[in-house]
Amino acid sequence: MSYLCIVKQKIIITGGMGYIGSHTAVELIESGFAVVIIDNLSNAREEVLDGIHSITGVRPVFEKLDLVEHEKTLAVFEKHKDAIGVIHFAALKAVGESVAKPGLYFKNNILSLVHVLECMERFQIPNLIFSSSCTVYGEPDKLPVTEETPTKKANSPYGATKQIGEEVIQAELHANSQLKAISLRYFNPVGAHNSAKIGELPLGVPNNLMPYITQTALGIREELSVFGADYNTKDGTAIRDYIHVVDLAKAHVSALDRLAHDTQEKNYEIYNIGTGKGYTVLEVIHAFERATGQSIQYKMVTRRAGDVEAVYANANLANEKLAWSAQESLETMCSSAYTWEKMYRGTEKSAT
Ligand code: WQD
Repeated sequence: MSYLCIVKQKIIITGGMGYIGSHTAVELIESGFAVVIIDNLSNAREEVLDGIHSITGVRPVFEKLDLVEHEKTLAVFEKHKDAIGVIHFAALKAVGESVAKPGLYFKNNILSLVHVLECMERFQIPNLIFSSSCTVYGEPDKLPVTEETPTKKANSPYGATKQIGEEVIQAELHANSQLKAISLRYFNPVGAHNSAKIGELPLGVPNNLMPYITQTALGIREELSVFGADYNTKDGTAIRDYIHVVDLAKAHVSALDRLAHDTQEKNYEIYNIGTGKGYTVLEVIHAFERATGQSIQYKMVTRRAGDVEAVYANANLANEKLAWSAQESLETMCSSAYTWEKMYRGTEKSAT
């Protein structure tokens, strides 16, 4: 009797215990890939593996590793040199912290990427997806931003590491003819998997809007401060392109399929991963209140340093070339974020 042995293609996810990484691990597993997660747990908990396992029935291989450590990184990649690709999320990403600790951000974010690229060349792993960000556009002159919109001097060392990361990859592509890469420029990821078994881990006081809203709704925070009511927008508050984290995760699977099937047109491609819609802070607050029935206490305060007035995506290129588009509504982003926050705080069992 012959057995059909299906060998799953292996993908390494650096930073895979993080918010976007863990959601991407779920989508990759559900798309039939074998997943190896590399993470130093500096901004995540190992219990995330339980959440991924609970959703998919598969517990990914986990390698606890700081990619800044060269020899250990080589050893782990050698162990998984049969991987067909790497999705590189691992990076420090707190904008404010990066202003206070620029050296830490440049060392961690750039050196980690350099070590990953060195391993990919040494072990001939061909496909790279890089976690980039709309921060590379700075304050755009024209909206929506396309991939052709000129990048501007980053507003923070964090944003600079994303710009430099894209440049390092492009330079590596000239040196490593085996490599193919896609940079995905994320807009504002929010929400959580509908199982409420994984989500954004709120470590400390949230920098980002949505976790601050969900914690205010739960009474963990007394009041939301809205940073700036004097922008040149419909209601004076700043505009962003909020995208459901599961939609964002699915974009990584689409990008990987493109590289794995060799259908990319150039050995380096860039895509905006956003919804194409911009919402003001007040619109998000009101959408949250409609979606959850929870009112949010807030006050208007001065603008936050480094914030841009408005940025949202023209995502047509990803829609066309990746055959991907965002599906979830702002209300669903809000309700899933709130359900996760309540589950995480133990006040409600997760959705069955
Ligand atoms: C959104 C809007 C704030 C908190 C950041 C990173 C970016 C990307 C996404 C990684 C802004 C306002 C926020 C609060 C507020 N991350 N706000 N009160 O700054 O657009 O982008 O996360 O790639 O790189 O910079 O996201 O959620 O912090 O802010 O009024 O308590 O909400 O001013 O207008 P941001 P955010």
